[in-house]
Amino acid sequence: MWPNRRLCDLLKIEHPIIQAPMAGSATPELAAAVSNAGGLGSLGCASMLPDGLRNAARQMRALTVCPFNLNFFVFPRPDTGDAVLTRVIDRLRPYYEELSLDQPSRRLPPVGPGFDEEKLELLLEIRPPVVSFHFGIPDAAAVGRLKQAGIAIIGTATNVAEAHKLAGGGADAVIAQGWEAGGHRGSHAPNGPGDGVGTMALVPQVVDAVELPVIAAGGIADGRGIAAAFALGASGVQIGTGFLSCDEAGTDATRRALIRTATDMDTMVTDVFTGRAARARRTRYALEMEESRGPLPDFPQMVALSAPLSNAKEDFAFHLYGQAAALNRELPAGQLVRTLVAETSEVFDALSTGKTTPA
Ligand SMILES: Cc1cc2nc3c(=O)[nH]c(=O)nc-3n(C[C@H](O)[C@H](O)[C@H](O)COP(=O)(O)O)c2cc1C
Repeated sequence: MWPNRRLCDLLKIEHPIIQAPMAGSATPELAAAVSNAGGLGSLGCASMLPDGLRNAARQMRALTVCPFNLNFFVFPRPDTGDAVLTRVIDRLRPYYEELSLDQPSRRLPPVGPGFDEEKLELLLEIRPPVVSFHFGIPDAAAVGRLKQAGIAIIGTATNVAEAHKLAGGGADAVIAQGWEAGGHRGSHAPNGPGDGVGTMALVPQVVDAVELPVIAAGGIADGRGIAAAFALGASGVQIGTGFLSCDEAGTDATRRALIRTATDMDTMVTDVFTGRAARARRTRYALEMEESRGPLPDFPQMVALSAPLSNAKEDFAFHLYGQAAALNRELPAGQLVRTLVAETSEVFDALSTGKTTPA
């Protein structure tokens, strides 16, 4: 039924539907259920330690014989300057006092680069069928070694220039992540909230720019969105928010309830939680911090300062989801994949026969 099977052939999957790697929310049970239903399940491995990563891969292999994806962040070692730290601590102090928390700490946790030699060696040992990268792509030597090991490489682009960079860097497929997307923007350079290209505008421009299969991401939640992505020239979709309400997702009860009553206007793009732009629920903390914008500690060190607030009160909470959350369905993941495939097929049929598009 799929108008082009480039992504299916590359990843050896039946349906070109990728469940987005969502660090903290995508569990092995979720990813395996998606893979077992013919899509590609993914795990967000950005903050996993070696044993956790080995364990996660072991769990995946126990739950599915189908391809799956492990995802990593590519960012330089953070190096937050003293002046920035002082400014942010002064800005946050009143919130800490309001919530009766201890003073914000000047000692930020030491963090290495997002993807390094140790993670590369681990991946060569684990040999997952697919690896995807957010915020950039590792150097050509690392990508070459992964590809030599038979691993398919996918990278995220939020604009055409980044898509060119991924193609030049050896990626096998490019995710075109539109502004609607929940979670961190995959921008290759740190940026603030600013402006971004929407999925509808981005996907056809990336399709024209690179020879690789393009995966549309951002605001896609049902068969209408998937059919639209193919109409724009995509060879597949990556859906994150849509899988947050699945039984197997690690989504906490509070966020599940928020998504149940979500509207199109619930979220905003802000870097005030982590130091990198992410689409998350609009909260008092995000709005007020955006009003007094200034330099922030480097990603991900800002988390050490925002997390005590986020964990203390809902007004400060960090809930990642996207603009299409109101379309979410509460289903087991395998059933959601089958529903998405059936809906897309109906839309394709309706469009080709001129019948009314199903709602
Ligand atoms: C809760 C959440 C966590 C995310 N974490 C990651 C991640 O760890 N790695 C990654 O590459 N993308 C991550 N993303 C972004 C997704 O890969 C994808 O671009 C996005 O979910 C697509 O938009 P949608 O949410 O509207 O479907 C995350 C998204 C969400 C909603």
